[in-house]
Amino acid sequence: MKLAILSCAPNAYSTRRLKEAAEQRDHQAKVLNTLKFAIDLDEGSPDLYYRQKQLSSYDAVLPRIGASITYYGTAVVRQFQEMDIFAANTAHGIINSRDKLRSLQILSRHHIGIPRTTFVRDKRDVLPAIARVGGAPVVIKLIEGTQGIGVLLAETVKAAEGIIELLQSQKQNVLIQKFVAESKGKDIRAFVVGDQVVAAMRRVAQGQEFRSNVHRGGIAEPVELDERYVQTAIRCTQIMGLRVAGVDMLEGKDGPQVMEVNSSPGLEGIETATGLDVAGSVIDYIAAQVDFPEIDVRQRLTVSKGYGVSEIYVPEGAHFVGQTITETKLYESDINVLTLYRGGKVIPNPKGNRVLEAGDKLLCYGKLEAMRGMIPSRARRRRKPQIQQLETDITAEGQAE
Ligand SMILES: Nc1ncnc2c1ncn2[C@@H]1O[C@H](COP(=O)(O)OP(=O)(O)O)[C@@H](O)[C@H]1O
Ligand SMILES: [Mg+2]
Repeated sequence: MKLAILSCAPNAYSTRRLKEAAEQRDHQAKVLNTLKFAIDLDEGSPDLYYRQKQLSSYDAVLPRIGASITYYGTAVVRQFQEMDIFAANTAHGIINSRDKLRSLQILSRHHIGIPRTTFVRDKRDVLPAIARVGGAPVVIKLIEGTQGIGVLLAETVKAAEGIIELLQSQKQNVLIQKFVAESKGKDIRAFVVGDQVVAAMRRVAQGQEFRSNVHRGGIAEPVELDERYVQTAIRCTQIMGLRVAGVDMLEGKDGPQVMEVNSSPGLEGIETATGLDVAGSVIDYIAAQVDFPEIDVRQRLTVSKGYGVSEIYVPEGAHFVGQTITETKLYESDINVLTLYRGGKVIPNPKGNRVLEAGDKLLCYGKLEAMRGMIPSRARRRRKPQIQQLETDITAEGQAE
């Protein structure tokens, strides 16, 4: 394959290793500076110019987009996608993961462990927010920080209030997050490629530091991950819409607590700590996937007027319960069942003789008019009751009214 590695740092360890791993496997790899592209838009023919020349043809693109150039970088990646070139990570995935608030918002509806986090604007919301995440000490984070810069630990509620006020006055958006104390200056980085964790390390902060980033002096060691950590890392990557990602997790007392998902994870730390050829895994994966560029299914399937994708829910007592998919006569109404969701299971292309159960969800493509009547009116989602542990301090501070 012919691979374009997008990077502004051709001499950085990660860039060099990816190029080297590609060449070792007899692929052609070029490192292209993300900021030297011109994006051309014309009816029916999205195009790219590189250093004033029309870009030659590529089979795949591997974006390494730094936080400082997210907008331009993702625009270039999106253009590759629009030109049907396979992108190891899509623009959408990169944007999702870049912002700590956005990524936690997306993860929080799934069953993924995350530290309790709040985002507030009004001054009056600050104290209750700190209380809701468990009181002091509390973690305060800038939404787009990296390398541990922009992550603070406030020892008291007073200090937290002061820091938040200061940052907000400087027009910074901050997250207030529960301090996962039991993780004690350690965290896990799982390197995910496709649907596998190809390498993992534990980073340990040194001295008084609570941040375990290698850039903050954290020391990395290889780690054999427990299955829960492996599954969490893979699911997070999929939920964010990424294929190559570094998932950072704290070791909470009830299992993994995801802090962030990185779409351009560094290779030096993880290859050094584990001795594994992580760059090689990335290249092998891209070579295997190259024939399947990302397709925006929703967009493509809604091009025909009156047709679209929708989910049909089969509630308790519905007449679909106990019927096979064929018996539901969905096909006769010009509705195709693409996928069946049952509990945590996903059944792609379900057969016509499959019997439906209460609670099933059918992802369908077909005539919207025919599907309209089958979509239940939106049930307002009930909140789960909050179960508090008794060991928490029942003092006035940190308690909601
Ligand atoms: N809620 C938390 N509880 C305990 N430690 C944390 C928490 N959030 C972050 N840390 C520590 O700070 C480090 C940096 O946080 P992270 O959110 O990954 O920001 P960055 O993007 O700057 O790496 C983590 O690797 C971890 O060691
Ligand atoms: Mg981090």
